[in-house]
Amino acid sequence: MASEEDVRAALMRIVDPARGTDLVSSGQVSSLSIADGVVSFVLEVDPARAASLEPLLQAAKTEVGELPGVTSVSAIMTAHAEAGQAKPVAPKTPVPDLGLKDFTPKPKAPAGPEKLPGVKHVVAIASGKGGVGKSTVSANLAVALAARGLKVGLLDADVYGPSQPRMLGVSGRPSSVNNIILPLRNHGVTVMSLGFMVEEEEAIVWRGPMLMGALQQMLSQVQWGTLDVLLVDLPPGTGDVQMTLCQKTAVAGAVVVSTPQDIALIDAKKGIDMFKRMETPILGIVENMAAFVCDGCGKMHHPFGHGGAKSEAEKQGVPFLGEVPLYLSIRTAGDSGAPIVAAKPEGEEALPFWSIADSLIDTLEKIE
Ligand SMILES: Nc1ncnc2c1ncn2[C@@H]1O[C@H](COP(=O)(O)OP(=O)(O)O)[C@@H](O)[C@H]1O
Ligand SMILES: [Mg+2]
Repeated sequence: MASEEDVRAALMRIVDPARGTDLVSSGQVSSLSIADGVVSFVLEVDPARAASLEPLLQAAKTEVGELPGVTSVSAIMTAHAEAGQAKPVAPKTPVPDLGLKDFTPKPKAPAGPEKLPGVKHVVAIASGKGGVGKSTVSANLAVALAARGLKVGLLDADVYGPSQPRMLGVSGRPSSVNNIILPLRNHGVTVMSLGFMVEEEEAIVWRGPMLMGALQQMLSQVQWGTLDVLLVDLPPGTGDVQMTLCQKTAVAGAVVVSTPQDIALIDAKKGIDMFKRMETPILGIVENMAAFVCDGCGKMHHPFGHGGAKSEAEKQGVPFLGEVPLYLSIRTAGDSGAPIVAAKPEGEEALPFWSIADSLIDTLEKIE
């Protein structure tokens, strides 16, 4: 069975003719791992040379694939890490095959965030921690914005638990033509999700450059078409995906979802701070699961107090977009593939989402 050393030795036999050095000596190979006969690694390249290096990547895959005990080779190219950036962490499992043969970024490395062609506004939906309803809010906002006549895309970038395939009732593997992925569509929303590419359990171990490569591919190698808004359902917290999105792509702003508990607000604050540091405007805070209506007495209860998120928003000087109570039907609608805004557009449960969508439209119109 081939060891990491063997794989490195194989990669040293691949020489980049333009530089006269092999892939290992030039320091281009990272995140090398072997698991159950599957070898995965990342080739860090100068984005300007990505297309011309494709044959080298193929040669490297063939060379490694011929080692004893290797059943498959998963390798991708990413733009090389810039000086001072943390070293990528090796993935614990093989890189999922996104079905894309080439990684062909723009010829020149962008100096700053780049506008996504054809997309008017990219809006990040973020939260300090998981389980606060970020995906629920993303799905309902997307459907509501589409119902208001906007052309809407939803990019599910939550590598820890892509949930949009389930929430928007879209499944299957999108097809690709000439290395451009054709996204799926439902409820008037164009959807792309890591969940289309990998099993839910698999997604959790994505790290570092794999993640960035996948995020970049989902932004730039998906045929989004002309969009008014592209919502990006981010993973929770303030990690690489959030930073990369803001650094590389022109983001109109972020919507931060929080639950009313103090601790969630502390987490939300970290998220807000990160976006401020990245100079990404905060479009507003959404307070989710703020209250519940009692089955017995029919009254609205606020078990965690009322107004916490709103006053926090004021303190932070960011807009408060609205609050969404906890309704069983919001959860069951999400689980069944038709968000409440689509399943019961006239219902009281859908009202907060309509109002948040309308506020968002107002805000985005001012940005133009
Ligand atoms: N307002 C709400 N009322 C009822 N259930 C909700 C509400 N918001 C979210 N949920 C449920 O809570 C769970 C976590 O929400 P989700 O949107 O997946 O959170 P996140 O994306 O932040 O991890 C899901 O089962 C979802 O259906
Ligand atoms: Mg989610």
